[in-house]
Amino acid sequence: MSEQNHENLFQQKVDNEIKIEPKDWMPEKYRKQLIRQISQHAHSEIVGMLPEGNWITRAPNLRRKVALLAKVQDEAGHGVYLYSACETLGIDRTELLDQLHTGKAKYSNIFNYPTLTWADIGAVGWLVDGAAIMNQVMLQRTSYGPYSRAMVRICKEESFHNRQGFEIMTVLARGTPDQKQMAQDALNRWWWPSLMMFGPSDENSPNTAELIKWKVKRETNDEVRQRFIDRTIPQGEIIGLTFPDPDLKWNPARNHYDFGKINWEEFYNVVKGNGPCNRERLQARVKANEDGKWVREAAAAFAAKKAN
Ligand code: 3HC
Repeated sequence: MSEQNHENLFQQKVDNEIKIEPKDWMPEKYRKQLIRQISQHAHSEIVGMLPEGNWITRAPNLRRKVALLAKVQDEAGHGVYLYSACETLGIDRTELLDQLHTGKAKYSNIFNYPTLTWADIGAVGWLVDGAAIMNQVMLQRTSYGPYSRAMVRICKEESFHNRQGFEIMTVLARGTPDQKQMAQDALNRWWWPSLMMFGPSDENSPNTAELIKWKVKRETNDEVRQRFIDRTIPQGEIIGLTFPDPDLKWNPARNHYDFGKINWEEFYNVVKGNGPCNRERLQARVKANEDGKWVREAAAAFAAKKAN
């Protein structure tokens, strides 16, 4: 069958909502796009463990510690699901991790910011996981089977992450004036980087058009970002916090919130590696990989011995 016929059949399957599975014919570019997006997603999950892991030993009580421990463990599991989904596309996990450890691979901008106070853990759960859920619920319907099924499982766990974060923010916002100020300060620092998580605006997104055609993405960056804003503003207002955006205003004509300009220079600067914590995050991942080398070697030796 000619390449063109393969392509036509492939697009028909996508258009008819038939999931593309690892053994199916797919355009090389589709495979490359999926490896790019799923690997970045997986890297984001395991790098995302670092800012929160930093507070496990300093959680204010046992209940908070247990919830944070569970969340950080979940993120590791999300990384494993996503590396596994990526490996079905014919790339090896060690190659993906090499790309991360050598600074070649991207991961979400958001994890290059520091978690300065306990309220940041609330803001991360509420805003970062809230943004991730908005994006990941959409990705449950992605055309690539293994990615879509990984998303279904991940979204269930993300909802707990988001709720525990919002509960932390609620308790602080209704606590002492100092606690409320800590929550407000965290919102001020995490709001705009959370909006950047959805990627550049549509006109500056080189991948979106192709990903929408292949139903990898079902909506554009701006559409998902807007839905996140519309859902999150009322939550912040209910607990008495104000958003660091003087242009934020409900627009009845649009039935959406209008919001201010995103600082894209900051976004691209962080993505390029010049964020507050990029170096520290990469060093931590490289060290974790080196420290875990003996475990991998022991497991491989045990498996080889068992196989003989
Ligand atoms: N951080 C870093 N880089 C980003 C980015 C971000 N937030 N958003 C976009 N970029 C990069 C893209 O990777 C692309 O670069 P590349 O072509 O070299 O890979 C470039 O900026 C242009 O952006 P596009 O909009 O064209 O890229 P995409 O079409 O891939 O859209 C995306 C970006 C919406 C983030 C999409 O990749 C996506 O949906 N990814 C899957 C979800 C994901 O990765 N989420 C990360 C957070 S996971 C998380 O938060 C864990 C949770 O448990 C806390």
